[in-house]
Amino acid sequence: MSDLSVSLHANKQFKSGAWTSPQRATVYDQTTNNRSDLTHFVTSEYLARFTERLAPGARVLDLGCGTGVLTKALAAQGFDTTGVDISRAMLEKIQPDSPGDRITLVEGNVYALPFEDARFDGIVTRWVIPHFRDWPLILKEAARVLKPGGTLVFDHCNRANYELATRDAKLDYEKFGYDNRTKGIAGAFYASASPQELQTAADVAGVELLDLVPQSFFRQNALVAAALGGDGFLAYRKAMDRFYEDEGVRAFLHWFERNVTPTLPLDLANGVTVICRKP
Ligand SMILES: C[S@@+](CC[C@H](N)C(=O)[O-])C[C@H]1O[C@@H](n2cnc3c(N)ncnc32)[C@H](O)[C@@H]1O
Repeated sequence: MSDLSVSLHANKQFKSGAWTSPQRATVYDQTTNNRSDLTHFVTSEYLARFTERLAPGARVLDLGCGTGVLTKALAAQGFDTTGVDISRAMLEKIQPDSPGDRITLVEGNVYALPFEDARFDGIVTRWVIPHFRDWPLILKEAARVLKPGGTLVFDHCNRANYELATRDAKLDYEKFGYDNRTKGIAGAFYASASPQELQTAADVAGVELLDLVPQSFFRQNALVAAALGGDGFLAYRKAMDRFYEDEGVRAFLHWFERNVTPTLPLDLANGVTVICRKP
């Protein structure tokens, strides 16, 4: 096996195993089901870009659904929702918001989904694709189970945000938390992609790339982290959480993230929402 295939394999093993213990699932559940922080707002904007393209009651799939943040929100909006995840411990945490919500939970692998071709009207995924170096294979598999005319929305990290951030400054990857270097900090690995790579992955998967939308300026931005330094960035995160408790600040941040961030050049934000359609 070459060095490259060894680390690809190790990356997959590590990332797929990271959430399978009940303890990790419990901690994950507690930290991600918070509905009163900026992350929650960014997620609801993200989800809206998916649901605005769906018919009422459409059959949707949440890929690598974890403890069901997106799954529950989709079912609460009346969609016939399936969540798939490799971790039974994560799936066991999912309780629908209301008893009438239609949720199917399936233990399965995003590289080999346990569904027939063209099953879903829409597929969405959050915080899964960038964990894997060979993420284009996940898209290809998602495209297989998507109906013609169906929508696929996923999130990724902008390579250009790291490039701009490190042009004149150093990025403390450990304190930033996402390390996009292949030989960087293994546990913190988060892949990044250029628009060209996203286009190529969409072409190979057989989906049309409709739009790339910058996602969140304030929450997790390598420009801010590199400018402030590692400790400065950690202090910034704490200050953001404090400021966010103020109603006026919250209103401004929501307004900015909704109206300004999506119009910025991609390199100014770390995240990107990728919107695709199967022809
Ligand atoms: C960072 S969590 C994101 C969970 C959820 N999407 C969310 O937004 O909170 C990554 C999830 O991917 C799942 N996962 C990792 N490897 C997987 C694989 N090969 N197939 C299916 N799920 C996988 C993990 O179990 C975990 O629940």
